[in-house]
Amino acid sequence: MTATPQKSVLQVADLHIHFPTGRHGQTVKAVNGISFQVREGETFGVIGESGSGKTTLGRALVSLVRPTSGKILQDGVDPSQLNRRALQTHRRQFQIIFQDPNSALNPRMKVIDAVMEPLVAIGRRDYLAMEKIALDALARVGLTAEQARRYPHQFSGGQKQRIVIARALTLQPRVLVCDEVVAALDVSIRGEVLNLFAQLQKEFGLTYVFITHDLSVVSHISDRIAVMYLGCMMELGSAQSMAEHPLHPYTQALLSAEPLPLPSHMRQDRRIILKGEIPSPMNPPAGCPFSTRCPHVQSICETEKPAWREMEPDHWVACHLTQSPSVGNA
Ligand SMILES: Nc1ncnc2c1ncn2[C@@H]1O[C@H](COP(=O)(O)OP(=O)(O)O)[C@@H](O)[C@H]1O
Ligand SMILES: [Mg+2]
Repeated sequence: MTATPQKSVLQVADLHIHFPTGRHGQTVKAVNGISFQVREGETFGVIGESGSGKTTLGRALVSLVRPTSGKILQDGVDPSQLNRRALQTHRRQFQIIFQDPNSALNPRMKVIDAVMEPLVAIGRRDYLAMEKIALDALARVGLTAEQARRYPHQFSGGQKQRIVIARALTLQPRVLVCDEVVAALDVSIRGEVLNLFAQLQKEFGLTYVFITHDLSVVSHISDRIAVMYLGCMMELGSAQSMAEHPLHPYTQALLSAEPLPLPSHMRQDRRIILKGEIPSPMNPPAGCPFSTRCPHVQSICETEKPAWREMEPDHWVACHLTQSPSVGNA
């Protein structure tokens, strides 16, 4: 958690990312028109069920996938306007870490070499200086020089994820997208790794986009929380306002579904059971993406996509009904 950072390091405007499926010219609308900003130094949590487009969004934020339409500005810069050389330097500042450290680490490479790899990849050749950077990064995540000489299989899952974090740090990023980074870890060590993220944020002034399907993770670490559903952003607000008065019926259902791991002020009194399945992202509902499952659905919801509105300072929602007394906690 940080003070009141204001400068935007990521500005996303009407972002669409559609993948062709090869079947009858259809596309998967993985990200379907979302707009938000991430502020310097904050932890921006993104929560959503599997398939809601979180990973695609995260990859786009670090230029690993191109927008189909819309814009992403990284620190005010549109990466699609940079030439190859400028892009290489620019994108070092925006790194991503994924769920599975095993797929990120080459089993035949010693830890020290794995951590140095990004430096080698950008063309550095000064071995001693790189080694020092790598050992320093490993020390920051709690690993010793002696451990740096070992191979990945000699480490636990939590330690391997620490190695992956150290590797991302060597390029001195400003923004780190963390995609389900504790999901594969034993519950008993998740807290430890989350604490490490918090500590590194303080030390390096990092900005995090913290993607997870696990509400208890996001609620503990985030300054602000965005809720995704079927490629759309449904609600965005400070962790506190989202917890105290979630405005979107989908957020309310999410919060009510897992009361136990949540801090007491986030628990909902009554469990809201959603009917039906998430529709296919190849063929999303015409109006509100949540209209087929929303307990409050009305006819406008089935025909018109709700606008993304700032209902109160810094609390955004896409719902036709937020002013209706039948919705919301008020
Ligand atoms: N490279 C791709 N090609 C085709 N479809 C994709 C690709 N990447 C993701 N998708 C689809 O986009 C949707 C969103 O996926 P993803 O971003 O991985 O969601 P999440 O991380 O929330 O589970 C899913 O339906 C997924 O199958
Ligand atoms: Mg994912």
